[in-house]
Amino acid sequence: MKATIAMLPGDGIGPEVTAAVQAVLKVVARGWQHTFNCNEYPIGGCAMDACGEPLPATTLNACLRADAVFLGAVGGPKWSDPRAAVRPEQGLLKLRSGLGVYANLRPLRIHPRLASLSPLRPERLVGVDILFVRELTGGAYFGAKTRTEDFATDECRYSVEEIERLMRRAFALARGRRGKVTSVDKANVLETSRLWRETAERVATEFPEVTLEHQLVDSMAMLLLTHPQDYDVVATENLFGDILSDEAAALAGSLGVLPSASLGDGRCGLYEPIHGSAPDIAGKGWANPLGALFSAALLLRHSLGLEAEAQAIEAALDEVISRGLLTRDLGGQASTREVTDALLHTLEMGLESHKAVDRGHSGC
Ligand code: IPM
Ligand code: MG
Repeated sequence: MKATIAMLPGDGIGPEVTAAVQAVLKVVARGWQHTFNCNEYPIGGCAMDACGEPLPATTLNACLRADAVFLGAVGGPKWSDPRAAVRPEQGLLKLRSGLGVYANLRPLRIHPRLASLSPLRPERLVGVDILFVRELTGGAYFGAKTRTEDFATDECRYSVEEIERLMRRAFALARGRRGKVTSVDKANVLETSRLWRETAERVATEFPEVTLEHQLVDSMAMLLLTHPQDYDVVATENLFGDILSDEAAALAGSLGVLPSASLGDGRCGLYEPIHGSAPDIAGKGWANPLGALFSAALLLRHSLGLEAEAQAIEAALDEVISRGLLTRDLGGQASTREVTDALLHTLEMGLESHKAVDRGHSGC
């Protein structure tokens, strides 16, 4: 297949993990005879430096024309003056809303090799398999903001339509998994949460084969630590999803491991590791590329429909982790490059053995 992928390396370790993704896409293209057109565009702090704005029109337009978008990370101390009117993160938020990617999927699986790095006892982690479905283009992130010297407001707003489309996505995903949706809100305090809960109940009637339960967000933060095995799909609003997914990432051993896919109604999606720009280690070659590489697998699966290729990357990544080739955040010594090279090698070996099987089948 032919596909156009917009690559947005961004700031900090973003370019390092994006290089790993470029390398794996190249191997996938060669191995499965695809043509991926990957062009890079600026976003975030580096775009502010180069073009004066965090999301230049050329970047947004290229993303709107692309079949999929990969993003490394945005932000850093250079641009983090709290008084600044323009910030790198605004570029990311504009991109998410510009692409209409309202459903942010953050899968949490815990590789057995990494279970000992989790703050939880390993036996509590056996079988943990949670898919967070975070609303991404509404809520407090996008409401009106006001600020005077001694007063500030952030408006949190949600329409029924925004909640419905997110919940439908969550239920549809749960149908293909263990059939349970946990909707997280703060309905004992927030009006938006009461609308959220009511709407979730209504959408649930469209999916009789899926069970729906509600949790308050404070309680959910605790339950994730005490009973992580009990959850399947966790659907929640923008801010709660941001917080809970970082908490969940700690269970996986490091923020560096988790991928994400942001989807709208069309095929094009935005794929990014959930970690940030990690300015403290930027340029050192130590960045963990796993979150980015798992995101590349999600890109192939969700936007390009290349399931076999996605699975091949995931299997190769699992193997590299099993071998203990880990970056420093996971207690290892390996560099970004070493982990990436090991992945490429494993992937290529897998391809060779598939070809050998194919040749066997065709009698060559
Ligand atoms: C995330 C990040 C972003 C968010 C920041 C960088 C704006 O924390 O993707 O989780 O809050 O959504
Ligand atoms: Mg976050």
